[in-house]
Amino acid sequence: MPRETAAGERRVALVPDLAGKLVGTGFEVLVERGAGEAASFPDAAYEEAGARLVEDWAEAEAVAKVQKPTEQEASRLREGQVLIGFLQPLTDREGIDRLAQRGVIAFAMESIPRITRAQPMDALSSQATVSGYKATLLAAERLPKFFPMLMTAAGTVAPAKVLVLGAGVAGLQAAATARRLGAVVTGFDVRPVVREQIESLGANWLDLGVVGEETEGGYAQELSEEQQRQQQQELESRLPEFDVVITTALIPGRPAPRLIPASAVRAMRPGSVVVDLAAEAGGNCELTEPGEEIVREGVTIVGFTNLPSSMPFHASQLYARNVVALLHHLAPEGELALDWDDEITAGACVTREQEVPA
Ligand code: NAI
Repeated sequence: MPRETAAGERRVALVPDLAGKLVGTGFEVLVERGAGEAASFPDAAYEEAGARLVEDWAEAEAVAKVQKPTEQEASRLREGQVLIGFLQPLTDREGIDRLAQRGVIAFAMESIPRITRAQPMDALSSQATVSGYKATLLAAERLPKFFPMLMTAAGTVAPAKVLVLGAGVAGLQAAATARRLGAVVTGFDVRPVVREQIESLGANWLDLGVVGEETEGGYAQELSEEQQRQQQQELESRLPEFDVVITTALIPGRPAPRLIPASAVRAMRPGSVVVDLAAEAGGNCELTEPGEEIVREGVTIVGFTNLPSSMPFHASQLYARNVVALLHHLAPEGELALDWDDEITAGACVTREQEVPA
């Protein structure tokens, strides 16, 4: 396990407990010195768990990372070496080609099929859980109001009204967290099956009259232009009712759907807060500036990216469980045994053979 080098990345791919679990099941675990520090996992804890601290991870047969390798890191990978991480196979063609040219056997966490058998490896879900939770906390901290209803000697305070747009894993966690803080929560998604999940959290369903299609893998399909226009119009008239809007709508490999035009932000009350979890894919709100927090027309718009890294201890712990589940799948007893007929192994693999130059 290398130390992550991407700017701002505090997570790690293995935590001491799980490194110990790998050691107990026949793996030899190498950890780059200092790798877990930013996530509050000291070197000594890895050593105690039976891992070996190293300056250089090049000798490893398999390399487990969080972020895709930089160009420099990729140049240190060799033919036949296994690489695991968030490799962005749908959006970073160049990075994937680089790995293919080096003959690396690369497994992208994003490409693990979302089937029941692969649930313990589902890192998109584990990290989205962290993002959803954190999004609500960011909103609560910025809103100049209480989330819960309060009855005090100085009078009664009405609860905050929170709208969650896109109720996949992150959205459902954001809604659940807002409910726990006492807000009145409303949710919307283009996948109609989500309605029951929102309602089971004690939240309300926002009926915009827009219903989308689901792909075979359970993802939303992009709406037609006409549906998108209808969604924006409906939302514009409904948004002023809410104090907080948390948006999480994503279409894999595509720019994030534009749900909130600038005009809808202008219609919101001053002091309202938008947290845009789709910022990395361009944002669900027209005014979102990825990586930034801005105030427009009195509305705070938070477009921070990589929220899981802001809670690195638990984000790493959950991610490490996903990685270890995948490693056990690829290398039972610590011996690589890649079965290309297996749906998970074949589905997650994004490069596996050296490209023959033309
Ligand atoms: P995601 O992060 O790709 O998208 C977030 C949400 O945005 C989705 O719920 C999507 O329907 C919604 N969305 C897209 N366009 C929208 C629009 N214009 N307006 C409003 N909402 C919009 O999704 P996530 O959270 O990764 O989950 C995707 C699917 O995978 C879900 O069906 C989920 O239930 C399923 N899943 C299956 C698992 C399994 O069986 N192993 C594990 C986790 C999730």
